[in-house]
Amino acid sequence: RRPAALVRNIDVSGLVDSDTGLLDRAIFTDEQLYRQELRRVFAPNWLFLAHIDQFHKPGDFFTTYIGEDPVIVTMDKDRRIRAYLNSCRHRGARVCRADEGATRNFTCTYHGWAYDLDGKLVSIPNKDGYPESFDTKDWGLVEVPHVETYRGLIFGTWNPQPSPLRDYLGDMAWYLDAMLDHDDEGTVVVGGVHKWVLEGNWKLAAEQFATDWYHVNMSHASALMVLSPTKNPKNEIVHRTGRQFLDPNGHGAGFPVHAKNRFNAQKVHEWIDYDALRERLGEARVEGPLTDGHATVFPNFSYLPVIGTIRVWHPKGPDRMEVWSWTVVDKSMPPEVREAQRLYNLRTFGPSGIFEQDDGENWSEVQAISHGFITNSVPLNYQMGIGSEREDGRHPGTTSELYSDAAGRAFYGRWRDLMNTPAWHEKETR
Ligand code: FES
Ligand code: FE
Repeated sequence: RRPAALVRNIDVSGLVDSDTGLLDRAIFTDEQLYRQELRRVFAPNWLFLAHIDQFHKPGDFFTTYIGEDPVIVTMDKDRRIRAYLNSCRHRGARVCRADEGATRNFTCTYHGWAYDLDGKLVSIPNKDGYPESFDTKDWGLVEVPHVETYRGLIFGTWNPQPSPLRDYLGDMAWYLDAMLDHDDEGTVVVGGVHKWVLEGNWKLAAEQFATDWYHVNMSHASALMVLSPTKNPKNEIVHRTGRQFLDPNGHGAGFPVHAKNRFNAQKVHEWIDYDALRERLGEARVEGPLTDGHATVFPNFSYLPVIGTIRVWHPKGPDRMEVWSWTVVDKSMPPEVREAQRLYNLRTFGPSGIFEQDDGENWSEVQAISHGFITNSVPLNYQMGIGSEREDGRHPGTTSELYSDAAGRAFYGRWRDLMNTPAWHEKETR
């Protein structure tokens, strides 16, 4: 454990008021709060690591992050998915510098310590030079203690005693299944992982995917028109009938429910067997979150079913995030439909996608001015839909109007509670 003097925690109760719906901008800009976030929000929670389709044989690996901690995700000899801190036990260099690949072991390029797929230190140059007390068993890679999978999505956590992933997802699983459970074959990844940097706090993106349909007609007006077959802006306005799901664990999902709000790639839309989906997932789910919508699994995993994108907002300091995006499709999709989905994702929400530009621009704009002293002290408004939260009898959990900040308030409420709660690594163990 780190000496307490090095760790200072701030009580954030006054920064997030979910009753009045006011938010202090310091939560997007303050360096100390950011460090606390890494300790209390990222380290103890389930975080998305990779898709199961990225691992087919022992030694396949993918490198990513849990918060700012670099991790290697790999398949061991028993075909188990495991994850390790990507930092050599010698002097701390990354033991794997590739984004992905296949290997028999991970050899550090600094002095040559090598680790096998179980994370064990298996060879070191000049071993004779170390004292007798040196035992390679003590110097294996630090393992992520829990890795679990939900419908092909691999999550990991540093928390030594997490609740099971399925419990953590709770009602959110019903909404996730709108993307991941179209048939028994499950989903696969098409193409590589796109990565790009945005100058904005990670919460701005995660929050928007959880709660914000209010921005769509305004921010994306031109993009909606470009996608429109009729090129008539009146036809392309997103109708505000729909619901928003909010969860005590901070997850959120919003989905218009209106016949006009279909934004599939044409080829994908034609291929989908809606009757079979209705049978499997029910009318409410097909007309709602499957047909349109976006969502966030707290804290930083988001997805858009119709676009076929899943993504992580990796925190890179209070002012910056790195977006990592995958295209995920049904395994049963024929190649030309998969390709249509991949291109559609690229055109809309890829690094140069027409919607992505609008969103990234908004977040960077908000971030760029937030450091001003006066600006930073003026609270932000999350009051829309206060009191509208209820069970609607059609969708699981608590829902609100489509245009509402309810899921945003739940997201920040959860964030506040985690920020004010010592994580396992801060508790005394005797
Ligand atoms: Fe890895 Fe020295 S830092 S072998
Ligand atoms: Fe958007």
